[in-house]
Amino acid sequence: MQLLDGKLVSETLLADIARQVEELRSAGKKAPHLAAILVGTDPASETYVASKVKTCKQIGFQSTEIRLSADTPEEEVLEYIRSFNSNTDIDGILVQLPLPRHIDEQKVIDTIDPKKDVDGFHPVNVGKMVIGQPTFISATPNGIMLMLQHYGIDTAGKHCVVIGRSNIVGTPMSILLSRNTNPGNCTVTLAHSRTQNLKELCLQADIIVAAIGRPAFVTADMVKDGAIVIDVGINRIEDAGRKSGFRLVGDVDFDAISRKASWITPVPGGVGKMTICALMYNTLQACKARQSLTY
Ligand code: GUN
Repeated sequence: MQLLDGKLVSETLLADIARQVEELRSAGKKAPHLAAILVGTDPASETYVASKVKTCKQIGFQSTEIRLSADTPEEEVLEYIRSFNSNTDIDGILVQLPLPRHIDEQKVIDTIDPKKDVDGFHPVNVGKMVIGQPTFISATPNGIMLMLQHYGIDTAGKHCVVIGRSNIVGTPMSILLSRNTNPGNCTVTLAHSRTQNLKELCLQADIIVAAIGRPAFVTADMVKDGAIVIDVGINRIEDAGRKSGFRLVGDVDFDAISRKASWITPVPGGVGKMTICALMYNTLQACKARQSLTY
């Protein structure tokens, strides 16, 4: 088994982004600026937003972080987005999901200027991604593509089973892997909660992408020898032995599956790191596009 080491790969790619920020500055251009909005106090979301803001600082991006209480009216969130849309200094806008139930998530996404939608969630950007036009691709699936590319993994003609059909991960992942690109050119099965023969499908998979959000959902008896296993799950489970009171586990049973897989991502230190990296690439791209350098 070989590790798909998201920590290592992201360090390399973030160094490349930091170098490009330096180039922008030397050319008298401004550094990328990401604005993040967090509504509520979900501990996982707080951690993700903090990591994104910290990474911005590490690589020379500017960042603005807006933290709003869980009972913030929808209109107030939309107002922040509108003000960021018209703020010429801000290149990328991110609203951390999920949002409290009284806020219409799609309305929030629709309000973000597609040119600043560095999450790639706006329908315009999703549509462009589906037909293969250059656009912002959502960070988790794009991070996985960057990781496969970095390790030179040949995916052409492989059968990939993606488990989970969310708008953020499973659905875009299935499309990216099926496209005529490298990595890509997979035969993709998109499995979900109503899939009846999941174990049989997984046993036929050369690549499994698990994005279900359930700890150790994929077990070793579902994985064929030599498969590539990509674990998108970041689940908190109680652990009295830890100072924090929890530890992070993925959607796959890492210990047992790592004895069968050819490649596997760890949790933490796998896909999560790549997600942040892909978000930073999108923000850099947004900044350059807004300064008419490249797109
Ligand atoms: N929640 C889980 N993943 C993501 C992501 O990639 N972006 C945002 N904005 N929220 C998320």
